[in-house]
Amino acid sequence: MNGPDPLGAVRAAVFDGPGSVSVEELELEAPRAREVLVRLGASGVCHSDLHVVDGEWPRPSPVVMGHEGAGVVEAVGEGVRGVEVGDHVVLSWFYACGRCAHCLAGRAWACSGTRAGQCVMDDGTTRFRRPGSGEDVFTYLAVGSMAERSVVPEAAAIPVPREVPWDVAALIGCAVTTGVGAVVNTAQVEAGASIVVVGCGGVGLSVVMGAALVGANPIVAVDVSEEKLALAQEVGATHAVRSTEEAAGLVVGGADYAFEAIGLVETVEAVPSLLRSGGVGVLVGLTAAGVRASFDVYAFVDAGKTLVGSIYGGAVPALDFPRIAELYLAGKLPLDRLVSHRIGLDEVEEAFAAMRRRERARSVVVFA
Ligand SMILES: NC(=O)c1ccc[n+]([C@@H]2O[C@H](COP(=O)([O-])OP(=O)(O)OC[C@H]3O[C@@H](n4cnc5c(N)ncnc54)[C@H](O)[C@@H]3O)[C@@H](O)[C@H]2O)c1
Ligand SMILES: [Zn+2]
Ligand SMILES: [Zn+2]
Repeated sequence: MNGPDPLGAVRAAVFDGPGSVSVEELELEAPRAREVLVRLGASGVCHSDLHVVDGEWPRPSPVVMGHEGAGVVEAVGEGVRGVEVGDHVVLSWFYACGRCAHCLAGRAWACSGTRAGQCVMDDGTTRFRRPGSGEDVFTYLAVGSMAERSVVPEAAAIPVPREVPWDVAALIGCAVTTGVGAVVNTAQVEAGASIVVVGCGGVGLSVVMGAALVGANPIVAVDVSEEKLALAQEVGATHAVRSTEEAAGLVVGGADYAFEAIGLVETVEAVPSLLRSGGVGVLVGLTAAGVRASFDVYAFVDAGKTLVGSIYGGAVPALDFPRIAELYLAGKLPLDRLVSHRIGLDEVEEAFAAMRRRERARSVVVFA
């Protein structure tokens, strides 16, 4: 290992049972082989954190929350070759082995060769502990970005240009890659295609930006919040409406593509009805675990429609993060428009409450 001694107290937002998070001081162990110590610059507050906090997804606890982060590499463990001390990195909440059939086929998000998703390091152990008791504290999706510092697998730390501000870099780690990637990678939307985007939070607004980037037209944004609809229009939506019924009225004959970016049964079930014959519905929003949805199968098959799930924007983070960062720097993706609230770690709970009320595009914790 090289770099400064990482041992010491780290403030972190910890989830320890449904309902809330609390900011605690934890001990952080030095990175082991193929791991990296990162000092966080910023961490976004994503609905996929809130699903856990609200008890909708089972996850081990206590766990340091946050999976949408960016920071600077402070130390590297043995055998790390991909990043160096001082690199600015965006953290990936799904790290892949790079060797399996999925990885070789460009489906990094489907890799089963690591412990990605299990909230531990790849050797199955944790680096955070509660002082005194010595209790292990898990790392949400092996990122744990709601902490001043975190240890992550080397494969989860993707270098990006230093010019990207921390708040924007953090959002590339989830919302932006999820939304832009759903358009560019999963659906491969062509210029001139008509699009409906249902839900305009951090993820849905990123779908709108991706759609504008590839020249989709029209781009119909749907949300129940006036604030989100106004923002959607500022970042590329040609129309902004309050319901899927209104959206259906605007794309006569149906849209070429419809994206669901909320994770609500009623809006998921509305997707097929938004599509023209042969249209493609892209499900991006995530429900509570185990939730089912239904639709008219005959009408769906008879009209030759497609439904596809899009996880992490179908991205290969090591390729897509730097590419998205360059598009931002070139002025082609107005990612800073997503950052509606810059907050401190102590205000995470408030940010979750605002998200439950469907307020704020994105709250981003900015570290000193
Ligand atoms: N597929 C993936 O890889 C992936 C990655 C990240 C997040 N997600 C999921 O995407 C979803 C969105 O995440 P987010 O962080 O943008 O959430 P968010 O809470 O910021 O955004 C949700 C938006 O939906 C709107 N909304 C709620 N109910 C509505 C309704 N009935 N009709 C219209 N609009 C409505 C809200 O006003 C809000 O703007 C979540 O389920 C999250 O877990 C999926
Ligand atoms: Zn997320
Ligand atoms: Zn793999």
